[in-house]
Formats: sequence, structure tokens, C-alpha cells
Amino acid sequence: MKHIKNYINNHKSRFINELLELLKIPSISADPAYKKDVLNCAEVVAKFMQEAGAENIQICKTAGYPIVYGEKIIGNHLPTVLVYGHYDVQPPDPLELWENEPFDPIIKKTEIHPDGAIFARGSCDDKGQFYMHIKAFELMMETDTLPCNIKFMIEGEEEVGSENLGVFVKENKERLQCDAILISDTGIIANDTPSITTGLKGLSYLEVEVTGPNRDLHSGLYGGAVANPINILCEMIAKMKDINNHITIPGFYDNVIELSAEERAEISRAPFSLEKYKQALDLGDIHGEEGYTTMERTGIRPTLDVNGIWGGYTGEGAKTVIPSKAYAKISMRLVPNQSDEEITELFSDYFQEIAPESVKVKVTPHHGGEPYVSPTDIPAYLAASKAMEVTYGKKPVPVRSGGSIPIVALFEKELGVKSILLGFGLDSDAIHSPNEHYGIFNYLKGIETIPYFFQNYTNLDKRN
Ligand code: BES
Ligand code: MN
Ligand code: MN
Repeated sequence: MKHIKNYINNHKSRFINELLELLKIPSISADPAYKKDVLNCAEVVAKFMQEAGAENIQICKTAGYPIVYGEKIIGNHLPTVLVYGHYDVQPPDPLELWENEPFDPIIKKTEIHPDGAIFARGSCDDKGQFYMHIKAFELMMETDTLPCNIKFMIEGEEEVGSENLGVFVKENKERLQCDAILISDTGIIANDTPSITTGLKGLSYLEVEVTGPNRDLHSGLYGGAVANPINILCEMIAKMKDINNHITIPGFYDNVIELSAEERAEISRAPFSLEKYKQALDLGDIHGEEGYTTMERTGIRPTLDVNGIWGGYTGEGAKTVIPSKAYAKISMRLVPNQSDEEITELFSDYFQEIAPESVKVKVTPHHGGEPYVSPTDIPAYLAASKAMEVTYGKKPVPVRSGGSIPIVALFEKELGVKSILLGFGLDSDAIHSPNEHYGIFNYLKGIETIPYFFQNYTNLDKRN
């Protein structure tokens, strides 16, 4: 389809400039100080959607940040694809580790991105990726090649748990009715190794508080005689895994489905170099659950990690003190058949149980989400696979990701529709980290691949 390449070549600098405009808006959903910017970002997304040719555009109010909706319905007998993405971004800190201002994008060449990459918070996760869909849609509209109905739903609270989107989906089932959901918010293995994400992990995220004495104490006068909540918290966390790095919370693995030898062999067929992996992260060695490969540890095994831990004196110099309190934020990534609510409860019970009498503990659950798996034999997956096969010249590899997009399981539950995770980022693009970037090659390749998806899907759809 020559019109695709032609259109992209003729418009690529504008495609890039529009994305840069979006990236200048600090739409940080987690930080209330950026409320105006998040709201402004929704307006700009709506404007771009309109300019691309979408209709019935609406900035839908929620209890939190709004959802931008738009659609183009060309025939009731045709299939409908719902495109989901998010315009909110993670906080950019630590700021001192950025080489440019996180909301003042620059384009730089790197070893992995010889054609250049856009450096800015949100470039890959997810502004650069959802914007590919708006540009692919524009391309199909302008070249008169949109083959089916399309609906856009771009939200502003993905990075904080999508709770209000969940409510919106439940209340708008009719409007969101569709045959397939297409999402670009994941990655590929490498620019010469396309892949499609077939699994997302669930998430249980909680905060714990350990209280020792009722006030901070002199560490000489009281040291050795009362519980230090930081020491106790460390001991409790250490107890959560055994020497094989199995999680010790009773019942934690009860619902985990063990994969067959065949399924594990399939996973091991995806290209992976342990040497390169270690090198990219400056690691002397890897670390993880005994009996599983790195790809299995990230893709199919549940995990438990401390995301942050604090308490006591962390300022300049030394202060001799036994703190009254210690805290940690802990996440567990879950695999199919594990329920986040159940796991949160199991954690909570175990944490109380292993706490010694010398401290009091409190567990506060944050947002959660269920895991998701996508079959590889449904029309939408086949359409995505064929699309990548054309644009990359190689059949994509199915890969289960360690990341989470909690709304995907809810889409399946509430709308009864499977999602296809057609992402184009690279693991090395540093999402959520300083110097996040998105390759120009990846951005344009995404815009090129998406119209093929629409064409293939419409042809494969059973109505035709
Ligand atoms: N886009 C990511 C998830 C992702 C990235 C999945 C790469 C697979 C590959 C998403 O924006 C994200 O960051 N999700 C959060 C969960 C959310 C509840 C904060 C995550 O995975 O930590
Ligand atoms: Mn994302
Ligand atoms: Mn994210």
C-alpha cells in the first residue's frame, strides 16, 4: 500500500512537531500541582483528534481527570475498533539525572536509535504511542482508506490506577461497544525483532507502617532495649522470600497456573541475550526465583518488590536516634488466575502475623489490577501480526510482559472484548526513568503499521 509510505514521508516533520507540542505539557496525574496542565493536555488531545477528522469529540468529566472520546463511524455493518491510550505521564524526578528538561523535548541520536529519538517525559509512555493512532487515523481519512469504524478513548489517570476510567467504562458500555480494542502502550523486543505483548501482569500495591516507641528516642539511652521499627521492617521484608527467592506468603502461589513444558519452550524461543541484558543494566549478575529463566521471571511468575522505604533521620550528617516509625511501599505483580484483592488480603494477614509484639503495624492498600492474557489465534491478533510482518518484514514474536495496564482486564470483563497490545517502545527507552525517549523510527513505524492492522482486521472480521 504505497499511499501509506507516501503520506508518512510527506507529513513526517509535522507528525513529529505535533508530538513535541503534546510533550511540552507536564500532564503529571500523580501531582496535584499540575492539575491545570493535565486538564490543558486533555484539551490539546481533543483538538488534535478533531483536526485528524474524528467526530462527536467529547472531553468527558470524571471524578478525576477527564477522558477524551472521539469516533468516526462509517457503517453499521462494519467492525468497530476502540483505540485506548493515556495522556497522563509519570513524575519526572529525579530531575538532576535528566540531560534535558523533561518537558522541553529534544531529538538526539543514540546507538540504538541512529535516526534519532525524542527525549521527554511521556515520549514513549504514552503520548508518542497513542499519538501514532491519531496520525494513522488522519492518514486513513486523508487517503480515503479507513476501512471500518473507529473509537478513541484517551484517559488521563493511567499512571495513578485508572479508577475513574473503570467507572466510565461501566457507565458507557453502549457507547464503547466494539469488536476489538487496540492499544499501543507496551514495547517490542528490538527494532529488528518485532513482538506483540500477549500478557500483562496484575498488581497489588500497598503501603506499610511499623510503629515502635511512641516517640523518636536517643539511640544510646534506649538502643538495644526497644524495637527499632526500621530494623524490624527490614527483617519482616526479608522474611517474605526464602533462599530460593520464592515468596513465603501463605497461599500466594495457590492460584498460579504452572505453564506446560510446551508453553515454556515457546517463551524460550523469543530472542534474549543474558550477557546483553546484564551489560545494559551494569549488573554483575541477575537475581530471581530459582528454577526460572529471566524471561519467565518477568513474564509468567508473580513477584514482590519494595518500591520505597523510609523512616528515621536521612538529612545531612549524623543524628543518633531510634525512630518511632518506619514505612515501605510494596508492590506485587500478579499472573493469570491470581486476584489482586485476594493477594492484598494474604499479604496483609501475613504482615500482621509476622510482626513481633514489640511493634504495631498498619497496612494500607493502594490501587490494584487484574492480570491479562491475549490469545494468539483471534482475528485481531492475526491482523496485528500480519501488519507487523508487512512493515518489519518479519513475523512478530508473542511475548508476555512484566508490566501492567489494569484497565485491560476490566475491558474484557465489562465489554467482553479482548485487547491487542501493539506497542512500539523499547525496554531501553527508559519509561518512568530519567531521560525517557522514543525512537523516531519507532514512531513512524507505528504510524505505518496501524493502517495495515485496520485493513487486515476488517478483512478478517467474520461479517465480511
Ligand atoms: N505503559 C505502562 C505499562 C507497560 C509498559 C506494560 C511496558 C508493558 C510494557 C503503563 O503506563 C504503566 O506504567 N503501568 C503501571 C501500572 C499502573 C497501575 C501505575 C505499571 O506497570 O507499573
Ligand atoms: Mn503507559
Ligand atoms: Mn507508565
